[in-house]
Amino acid sequence: MSEKNNSSSEERPNQRPRISLTSSIPIHNYYTQAIDGEFRDYSFNEERAPLNQGKWRSEVFKISAEYPIDLEIGTGNGTHFQHRALTSPERGIVGVELKYKPLIQSIRGALRKGAKNARICRYHAMNIDLLFAKNEINDVYIHFPDPWVTPRKPRNRFVCKRVLDWLWEIQQPDSKLDFKTDSREYFLWAMEQIRETKYKIEFETLNLHASPMAADNFATQFENIFTRQGIEINFVRLRKT
Ligand SMILES: C[S@@+](CC[C@H](N)C(=O)[O-])C[C@H]1O[C@@H](n2cnc3c(N)ncnc32)[C@H](O)[C@@H]1O
Repeated sequence: MSEKNNSSSEERPNQRPRISLTSSIPIHNYYTQAIDGEFRDYSFNEERAPLNQGKWRSEVFKISAEYPIDLEIGTGNGTHFQHRALTSPERGIVGVELKYKPLIQSIRGALRKGAKNARICRYHAMNIDLLFAKNEINDVYIHFPDPWVTPRKPRNRFVCKRVLDWLWEIQQPDSKLDFKTDSREYFLWAMEQIRETKYKIEFETLNLHASPMAADNFATQFENIFTRQGIEINFVRLRKT
């Protein structure tokens, strides 16, 4: 039977973004080795990560159903990821990151600072629906995803209707979704996409640091870089009602 005929759903798996396998790396460095070595209990490579779908509470965090688990996409070096883990020990946090070095920096820093509630996956964010079951996660943080303005390829943008519809499915009711970007072009485009979804827009601003949300804002690594350059930060908070 051909691969095409073998597909039982309308999905076209060949259109899914694919990433290299950690298990196929011929020569490892510290970071590629650490994901399945030193940090194996806390970090999941692209093959192990989706096995946790529907089991994050019961088998990964080993906590009861009431315990909230948040998600951060593209953790970078992990400043916000670690901040969330350390300031909210009553919640779990799962990070998703494509690159090995920031991934290991994120989880290593969290563990060294004493967090027990953080896990991280090497995974392509555009396949996020394969990592979680319906209603499995709570709040979602998307901070400074690649804006795809040079080259201009809106179809690669993470914050778009298709992905937001998936996030809506995997979030529990009453959860929030925060999106920050330095790119005004991406933000205005994304707001049009957002208005096509079921999310309620709770707050939006073209200048986060001059808004009422500034006091509670935790500036990420990239946010600090952009702010030093005088770039205004665009921000929206959505709610799954
Ligand atoms: C501009 S950085 C922002 C990092 C961090 N959120 C911050 O605000 O400092 C974007 C991050 O997303 C990661 N990333 C890019 N594409 C990704 C993808 N498809 N899946 C997961 N992570 C991705 C990059 O490796 C990078 O660490």
